[in-house]
Amino acid sequence: MRAIAVSEYGATPAPMNLPVPEPGPGEILVRVIAAGLNPLDWKIADGMLKDSVDAPFPLILGQDGAGVVDAVGEGVTRLRPGEQVYGSFRGVERGLGSYAEYTVARDDGPVAKMPAGMLYTQAAAVPTASATALAMVEEARVDTGQTVLVVGATGGVGQGVVQLASRAGAKVIATARDDMAGTMRRLGANETVDHSAGDLNRQVLAVHSDGIDAVLDMVGDTRATEHLAQLLRPGGTYITTTWSVHPDAMEAKGLRGINFEGESSAELLDRLSDLIDSGGLRVRVEREVPLEEAADALAENRAGGARGKTVLRI
Ligand SMILES: NC(=O)c1ccc[n+]([C@@H]2O[C@H](COP(=O)([O-])OP(=O)(O)OC[C@H]3O[C@@H](n4cnc5c(N)ncnc54)[C@H](OP(=O)(O)O)[C@@H]3O)[C@@H](O)[C@H]2O)c1
Repeated sequence: MRAIAVSEYGATPAPMNLPVPEPGPGEILVRVIAAGLNPLDWKIADGMLKDSVDAPFPLILGQDGAGVVDAVGEGVTRLRPGEQVYGSFRGVERGLGSYAEYTVARDDGPVAKMPAGMLYTQAAAVPTASATALAMVEEARVDTGQTVLVVGATGGVGQGVVQLASRAGAKVIATARDDMAGTMRRLGANETVDHSAGDLNRQVLAVHSDGIDAVLDMVGDTRATEHLAQLLRPGGTYITTTWSVHPDAMEAKGLRGINFEGESSAELLDRLSDLIDSGGLRVRVEREVPLEEAADALAENRAGGARGKTVLRI
């Protein structure tokens, strides 16, 4: 089968011809039709998991995908051949991933039936980014009447966070360069601040001089986080996907600091399907590219400037 893989950590992802995996007991084999690109994919290619997972090489990249169940292993009861499914197919320990014509998942893993009427290319864009957004907004306890700053709002996770925080009743301030300010407002942001136009604290405090209730951050390093945390009112929450928070230091200042670690599940995907079906969440696919162009798409995502999700057509 055609796949995009690396021959070692740090190598350039390349098209390869690799064997179709066999579904073991409790597993499904999925014919992948579209794969969603996440920053995690190039981070894994770089070696992010090298000390925690003993991966075989070539290592196929990608975790998000959508396709059709092709075959099922012994003992599979939930999903059936022919069903349209989407979800997370990360299989680093077996060298498998979603950037391939076929991949496997556990029947009881983070894979669910696709939302009715959804295109494969849209479904593949959903799992990691939207599940992260939903779980983050809930863990931050975003609520009516709060004012929250979303940092990295224009990216895959951020666009979901803006919509779901707004839906939870909060006043949302979204970071956006000029070209994305209108899109952020259409997704539910009340205000935008431009992270390319000077200090964010100054821009936020110019409108909210008594501070804000929460920062949901998809970008910051420790230094940026400590600076932005100065915006929080007593009792405020700082949650980040980039593990830039020192929770104890935050607690000492009367704040709640959370390093978010996402864990997807079929139940979470079903909740996302319902939200998407009811119009409560939109997932913007910025562009679709053929599988063979994955290396360029990954390099572009690493360079920044995402304006929605990138999807690979298998
Ligand atoms: N911990 C977890 O469980 C978890 C789960 C999902 C994702 N993540 C991580 O979360 C991060 C975001 O993921 P993603 O999928 O949303 O990435 P993405 O789609 O690539 O988007 C990143 C966005 O951040 C914006 N940005 C960059 N620098 C910024 C700054 N200084 N201030 C404000 N915005 C800035 C970028 O726009 P410009 O370049 O135009 O500024 C871009 O729109 C990644 O590091 C990813 O690995 C972690």
